[in-house]
Amino acid sequence: MTIAEERYSLNGREIVLRSARLDEAQMLLEYLKTVTGETRFLMAESNEITYTQEEEEQFIKKHNEAKDELLIVAFVDGDYAGNCSFTGEEGSRRARHRAGIGIALFQKYTGFGLGRLMLKRLLQEIQAQGFEQAELTVVDGNERAYHLYESLGFRECGRIPNANKYDDGTYADDIFMVLPF
Ligand SMILES: CC(C)(COP(=O)(O)OP(=O)(O)OC[C@H]1O[C@@H](n2cnc3c(N)ncnc32)[C@H](O)[C@@H]1OP(=O)(O)O)[C@@H](O)C(=O)NCCC(=O)NCCS
Repeated sequence: MTIAEERYSLNGREIVLRSARLDEAQMLLEYLKTVTGETRFLMAESNEITYTQEEEEQFIKKHNEAKDELLIVAFVDGDYAGNCSFTGEEGSRRARHRAGIGIALFQKYTGFGLGRLMLKRLLQEIQAQGFEQAELTVVDGNERAYHLYESLGFRECGRIPNANKYDDGTYADDIFMVLPF
C-alpha cells in the first residue's frame, strides 16, 4: 500500500512523509549503508549491506503494492531523513493479525520528535488495515528507541540473551515488544 505526500511542521522544520518511489532505490541503499554504520542498534554491519539497486527497487515495489505492507520515507526541509515500515506476518492465517515494524533515521535527524511522528502515522495505518497488534525488536541498550516505543504503548514481552555478537566480541540482547490495539 502507499500513502500520498503529507506535510507537517515539527520544531520549525518542514516534514514530508510519503511512500517511496522506485527512482529512490539508490538513495535508500546509500542511507542503509550509512545508518547501519552510525549505530550498533540496527540489523547488520554497514559492510554487510550488499543489496543491488534492482533488489532495492523490488523492496520498494513490494511495499507499495502489497496490501499488508507500507514503507514511509521522511524528508526534513527537503532532505531525506530516514524511513519506517510495516510488514504483515505472512504464512499461516493464525499470524495474519500481526504487523512487524522497523524504523531508522540518519543520526542527524534523531532526537527532535520525528521518530514519534512517523511511528504514530505508521501505527494509524496498521490499525486502519485491521491488524490487532504491532510488534518490533529493539537491541538492549537502545534507550531512546525503547523509551519511544514504551511511550507509544509497546510493552516488553521477552528477550533473546546475547542475540547480537559484535566484531569487538561484545554481545547485546534482542528485546521483543508488542502493542496490542
Ligand atoms: C530510534 C529512533 C527511530 C527514534 O526516533 P527519534 O526521532 O530519535 O525519537 P524522538 O525524538 O521522536 O523520541 C525519542 C524519545 O526518547 C527520549 N530519549 C532520548 N534519549 C534517551 C535516552 N538516552 N534514554 C531514554 N529516553 C531517551 C526523548 O526524550 C524522547 O522522548 P519524549 O518524546 O518522551 O521526550 C531514532 O533515534 C533512530 O533512528 N535511531 C537510530 C536507528 C535505531 O535505533 N532504530 C531503531 C531500531 S529498533
